[in-house]
Amino acid sequence: MRLKNKIAVVTGAADGIGRATAVLLAREGADVVVGDIQAAAAEETARLVGAEGRRGMAVAGDVRDRAVLERLVDAATREMGGLDILVNNAGTLGAGHFLQYEMETFDRVMAVNARAQFELSQMAARWWVAQKRPGRIVNVASVNAEFAMKDVAAYAMSKAAVRMMTKALALELAPFGIIVNAVAPGTVRTGMNREMLGGTRLEQRWVERTPLGRVGEPEDIAKAIVFLASEDASYITGQTLFIEGGRTLYMH
Ligand SMILES: NC(=O)c1ccc[n+]([C@@H]2O[C@H](COP(=O)([O-])OP(=O)(O)OC[C@H]3O[C@@H](n4cnc5c(N)ncnc54)[C@H](O)[C@@H]3O)[C@@H](O)[C@H]2O)c1
Repeated sequence: MRLKNKIAVVTGAADGIGRATAVLLAREGADVVVGDIQAAAAEETARLVGAEGRRGMAVAGDVRDRAVLERLVDAATREMGGLDILVNNAGTLGAGHFLQYEMETFDRVMAVNARAQFELSQMAARWWVAQKRPGRIVNVASVNAEFAMKDVAAYAMSKAAVRMMTKALALELAPFGIIVNAVAPGTVRTGMNREMLGGTRLEQRWVERTPLGRVGEPEDIAKAIVFLASEDASYITGQTLFIEGGRTLYMH
């Protein structure tokens, strides 16, 4: 067990990568606050954490709401008794062609994907600094932080912001013993794109262009998040780990 008795907050943990991360964190010995806008599914993730023998607590709400972020931190620090790991995972795609793109969608994508990660990281870091305790932040970015794709300009911008935020916070927080890294998944089979994939031509094309020959599963990403949250990664900070089966290695 690499995370025995640690306490983690995972946002967007009702489904996909977030749920897989909550379960793997628990399997490594951590208690988990499960944040998500989907209340019932968040409760189900908390139950799965419990099934691993650890405490799971669901906090329902939108990460765009500061009061919800405060509840996430309070659930960990006050109700569970501490905070060691923050996984900023909640995200939204908001796909659409640039020429038709609505600015309301742009604002939502930026607020969920970038602003909320910044705001929650600040709350967690302030707590760690006040308590003189070390901390870990793992942000979920995307290959789109680096590579353009049609119809996801706002999403890609938000993820590039996450990547730069990861470097900037790593630099500013290192003196306080706070380590900040990110993962950048390729295409992963989750709610975000299940409909787009599902044996379609798009999935086939992605698989053909991925050296490791398959789409990612949530556990592929969760395993890397657990690694970055663990002592095994104690000399790594400010980095973004691309987890995409080699999809971005060559031009095609
Ligand atoms: N699936 C992929 O191919 C892929 C690729 C690269 C990056 N990512 C990133 O991985 C992260 C997790 O996504 P996923 O693929 O597991 O998708 P998902 O849809 O299964 O999970 C996202 C979760 O975030 C929650 N969420 C969305 N908006 C929220 C809000 N405003 N407040 C609180 N919770 C909110 C959703 O309810 C959902 O449970 C996201 O940041 C996403 O951008 C996914």
